[in-house]
Amino acid sequence: MAWKLSFEVFVNVYESENELEGSELHLLQAARQATQTAYAPYSNFQVGAAVLLEDGTVVKGSNQENAAYPSGLCAERTAIFAAGATYPSQKVMMVAVTAKRKEESLFVAANPCGACRQVLSEYENKQNQPIKIVMEAGNGKIYICDSVNMLLPMKFSSENL
Ligand code: THU
Repeated sequence: MAWKLSFEVFVNVYESENELEGSELHLLQAARQATQTAYAPYSNFQVGAAVLLEDGTVVKGSNQENAAYPSGLCAERTAIFAAGATYPSQKVMMVAVTAKRKEESLFVAANPCGACRQVLSEYENKQNQPIKIVMEAGNGKIYICDSVNMLLPMKFSSENL
């Protein structure tokens, strides 16, 4: 007889950015700025991400699309790969992600895609310390999750190899 595995995902919901801690708001603002560097001529969906390192350095990234669609890369991976390549020994404390539609000024909900969760999870496992994820949730709301792995139950990791 089969039995069920179940997983709980805890996400903190904030009704407004005014409820955020200073470092969270600062990183979210960096991610919002990063949407300006998005290269998204195909989707017109501009995603911005910002990575906070343990020494306070902020590394920004945005989605970079390509005429060969699958060759493009999401904002979160652009940012975390840049951070990993530039500051390989720095731990990642927090990642913020946001999005907006081109020609609109409102920021909309931005949930990291599955591939980005997988990549962020690798860094969390590598440093053996959780990475906080700050996500624009739309209508001024913000979601914060204390760990990437929380957002990726039953993930594939090096332990599977
Ligand atoms: N995108 C991201 O940058 N991050 C995500 O987590 C989801 C989607 C980008 C990819 C593509 O350039 C555009 O948003 C539309 O999918």
